[in-house]
Amino acid sequence: MDDSDADQREPHKKSPNEPVSKPALVDLGIIFWEGITGEDDPRLDEIKKERGYTYTDVCNVCPDKLPGYDTKIKSFFEEHIHKDEEIRYCMEGSGYFDIRDGEDKWIRIHLQPGDMIVLPEGSYHRFTCDSDDYIKAMRLFVGEPVWTPYNRVDITEEEESRKKYVDTFINKTKKAKTEGIVGTEGNNETKVEA
Ligand SMILES: [Fe+2]
Repeated sequence: MDDSDADQREPHKKSPNEPVSKPALVDLGIIFWEGITGEDDPRLDEIKKERGYTYTDVCNVCPDKLPGYDTKIKSFFEEHIHKDEEIRYCMEGSGYFDIRDGEDKWIRIHLQPGDMIVLPEGSYHRFTCDSDDYIKAMRLFVGEPVWTPYNRVDITEEEESRKKYVDTFINKTKKAKTEGIVGTEGNNETKVEA
């Protein structure tokens, strides 16, 4: 995405646009599904079972349903990590998850109805609604949910979850690239925008 300070809800596509391949997202530890048709979709149950997600709830992020909407979406947009995965399934509406690539540059992911995403523990990210100001999303969790964000300005690279993420994904990918084992040049492009 671009570096402009314009409204966070704008697309912020680079010009020319630089789509990011799915393998590049996999290297960053992102898990992504598309086309989930609703709460009753058997694929959702399969994912829950496979990944041990025992908790779900649904939240609406929009000016009418979320008290203090303007302040809340600014706080969601503070760059942060969690000490657990962040899992979201977009049921209606849309929004942007921004994640950091291996060079610490932002990649913007447009979450749309049917999309489900897992951001790994310790990965820097932020969220905003897009200019439609509406997303209905399912939140999933393993066990009792903990939503605590740790803002980047308040933590160091020595923080345990952060270190785990860097070792598991960033360093592993860098090493594999050096050794010529992985390539992220694939043509399997998604709607993700750098
Ligand atoms: Fe988060």
